[in-house]
Amino acid sequence: MTDQQRQADAVFRDLFGRPPVLAAAAPGRVNLIGEHVDYCDGFVLPMAIERETVIVAAPRPVVGGEPIARLHSTAFAETVELPLTPGTGPPAAAPGWSRYLAGVIAGFLDRGATIPAFDAVVDSTVPLGGGLSSSASLEVAMATIVATLAGHAIGPLEVAQLCRRAEHEFAGVPCGVMDQCASVLCIRDHLLLLDCRSLAVMQVPFQRPDLRVLVMNSNVRHALNDGGYAARRADCQRAAAILGVPSLREATLAELEASRGALGDTIFRRARHVVTEIARTLDAATAIAQDRWAELGELMAASHVSLRDDYAVSCLELDLLVELAGAQPGVIGSRMTGGGFGGCTVTLVEAARADAVMAAVARGYRQGTGRECTLFTTRPAAGARLVWLPAS
Ligand code: GLA
Repeated sequence: MTDQQRQADAVFRDLFGRPPVLAAAAPGRVNLIGEHVDYCDGFVLPMAIERETVIVAAPRPVVGGEPIARLHSTAFAETVELPLTPGTGPPAAAPGWSRYLAGVIAGFLDRGATIPAFDAVVDSTVPLGGGLSSSASLEVAMATIVATLAGHAIGPLEVAQLCRRAEHEFAGVPCGVMDQCASVLCIRDHLLLLDCRSLAVMQVPFQRPDLRVLVMNSNVRHALNDGGYAARRADCQRAAAILGVPSLREATLAELEASRGALGDTIFRRARHVVTEIARTLDAATAIAQDRWAELGELMAASHVSLRDDYAVSCLELDLLVELAGAQPGVIGSRMTGGGFGGCTVTLVEAARADAVMAAVARGYRQGTGRECTLFTTRPAAGARLVWLPAS
């Protein structure tokens, strides 16, 4: 058992008076490149991080009445009860964190699963609202638990899609499928090259033990359900409609240029980001596979500029983090990552230089913004797992 599982186990025993029988772990993710293209059928290149949501659970005998799940969050020190009967949504007053879980439960009930009454404790080391997919890791951990308790057969891609639907319908974020796929499918020491149109997957080995992935959280809180994300998505749909293609995956730069007038400046820029970012992502995967890391760094830099100038989803704090990191020796590449409007940057750095880079960036960020950033390094981690806990 990991320390995190042990802690969740102790909380479970305390609250529910018996030991849990199973644990699921699902990681957050950081996207190396391929930003804001998953909902345009593009390619993305995320990896799981060494921060995850752990849920420990045990079924509970039902003593009359309808089955319910009792779910406790260690982060919010709150316990909620959710119905497990088809057609009954979460109580109107259910707190925000539990809505993701209610969405996952609803997804299984819609597939005809019979979910037995159960208790669970949720604990997470993925920073909330930091653009590292805390919600996807929560959904995927929950789906792993529910599928097992219900004895319900479901494939990994179906889990990702069910979780994405939970995010759309219960959390109000019209996200693409990248985060949930990453949390389900990633494997240790690999990047996940995902074709968001076909959902074909290629595991790209990350063969440089002398490199670290550095995650810098601007601590500017990002909220994807406040309209900016949905507006970008709508701009892309508009662009595709004007160009007469099903999605921007099907568009070329030449076609965009030819329709510049019809698209108008803003929509043209949004579409240009998507079309060029899809190409950069494929180039990045090739560069990594062929050990051309300097080229990867250039692609990351170009991605950031495109997200900042054409897609307008960066902010001054993210730009400063990227600029500070880029000026440090040993840094291969740096860019904003995730939905944007705050959240994190991702930086590839020589392991031996990582501490010095972190110290210099933290100092420069404090001086430049008056804020503290939070930094950690990670290697590509494993996707979702289920563990049966030893009886004790
Ligand atoms: C959020 C969404 C993803 C993706 C990224 C941007 O993380 O959940 O689906 O669109 O933003 O790349």
